[in-house]
Amino acid sequence: MHYPWWHVPYLTGPMLIAIVAVLHMFVAHYAVGGGMFLAVETTFAYRRNRRDYLEYLHNHAWFFILITVVYGAITGVGIWLTIGLASPLATEALIHIFIFGWAMEYVTFFLEIASAFAFFYYWGRLAPKTHQAMAWIYAVSAWLSLFFITGITAFMLNPGGWESNRTFSVGFFNPQLVPQVLARTGGALLLSAQYVYLHATFRATDPELRYLVQRRSTLPGLVGAAMVALGGILWYAYLPESSRAVLVGTGVLNVLMTVIFVVTAVVFVMLYLGPYRNPGWLSPGFAILFLLAGFTAIGAGEFVREAVRKPYIVYNVVLGNQIYADEVPILQRNGFLEGGTWTRAYIAARYPGVMEGRRIVEERLLDLPEPEQRHVGEVLFQYHCNNCHAVTHGVSGASQLLRGWTPEMVRAVSREPDRFHFFMPPWSGTPAEAEVLARFLIPIAEPFPRSLKHAEGRE
Ligand code: HEC
Repeated sequence: MHYPWWHVPYLTGPMLIAIVAVLHMFVAHYAVGGGMFLAVETTFAYRRNRRDYLEYLHNHAWFFILITVVYGAITGVGIWLTIGLASPLATEALIHIFIFGWAMEYVTFFLEIASAFAFFYYWGRLAPKTHQAMAWIYAVSAWLSLFFITGITAFMLNPGGWESNRTFSVGFFNPQLVPQVLARTGGALLLSAQYVYLHATFRATDPELRYLVQRRSTLPGLVGAAMVALGGILWYAYLPESSRAVLVGTGVLNVLMTVIFVVTAVVFVMLYLGPYRNPGWLSPGFAILFLLAGFTAIGAGEFVREAVRKPYIVYNVVLGNQIYADEVPILQRNGFLEGGTWTRAYIAARYPGVMEGRRIVEERLLDLPEPEQRHVGEVLFQYHCNNCHAVTHGVSGASQLLRGWTPEMVRAVSREPDRFHFFMPPWSGTPAEAEVLARFLIPIAEPFPRSLKHAEGRE
């Protein structure tokens, strides 16, 4: 509405964001935890003068930079690209609210890249003290960048008292900050232990060295798993009421929550019985399985975190379909199509007859020829509903959800979607626009399944 619509067929824009974000999270946490690992371990190796361990760490740093800087930076830019296209209003709002936070995040990101490159490419050419300092600069700036980004994503879920005091600090130090920083820091420790095991089973060929690598990474892994669990519990405790209702009331999220807790517990036990109690156990197969378990928990966690943000994408500020909460009454009075720069221009260009000056007379839409009404209905659907529903097939397709619905039912859900499910944004247009939407939806609704015995002959 405020921006041109980006149509992602089948998948919907937000699902694409979720996929890119999860792919990024698989390494973003390692970028933080791996930095801590390299800082602590190079310091240890220099102190003990362990040449072989230093050589292993040099090897690991190459693997680390390849994965985090190359893959991590590409998928990170991918996130900006997809949120900018699929969720432009929310992105704009967050940039404006947290301009100072983003600036700090970019400073830490620059420090990260510079120190990582200095650490790796000047290996052996820097004095040990300077070399260790590079690793620590990296570790601290990577964690700070996690901290800044998490403050902003946590705000989206629960902005706390920001509504009444719109300052940076109130928004940033929101109720979800500590739980999410705790869970993400724990995730960083755990995931980097898993990456270290994977790398070490292939590259640390000397048994004594491999034993050392395993032993030193196990405790951070165990502590990380405990932090994830604690952060998760606090996250739940500080959810806004509506998000908690989504979480407990949605079947797929119930399943995913169970997956997260079971997998985290399994990882904890594997870590304890495997590397902690019997370090010799660690084989490439075990390490791969272990990393996949970590990916599963992270993927499910990120998905749940995204999915509970309904009906708001930025709580009480931006609704899931890219409109401000404040403008709902205005749009209900003046019309949804008229409220948007792009929709108004489109209607004016295509149907000059419905315009009165710069105003759209919504009732006149109902006099357009049938196919044109359906077309306007589709435009309304794309802007108002496509953030969560594909049209016919794909993610939560409208045709499938409306299977067997009578025209009256379709009209009712178009007029008051939030009555059917509180997690849908309210209808933010005039009654005439809701009718045009219904006229698009009625013909695409799939028929009632006829093969059901009790439903013989039902239309
Ligand atoms: C913020 C996300 C969001 C938006 C925007 C949204 N919906 Fe939904 N809607 C959902 C969710 C979630 C469900 C539950 C089904 C599911 O999980 O796919 C749902 C369910 C439905 C259902 C099935 C209702 C039932 O009782 O089974 C219909 C019909 C529907 N939506 C129509 C619409 C229409 C029409 C619009 C646009 C006016 C819309 N939705 C906008 C999230 C949304």
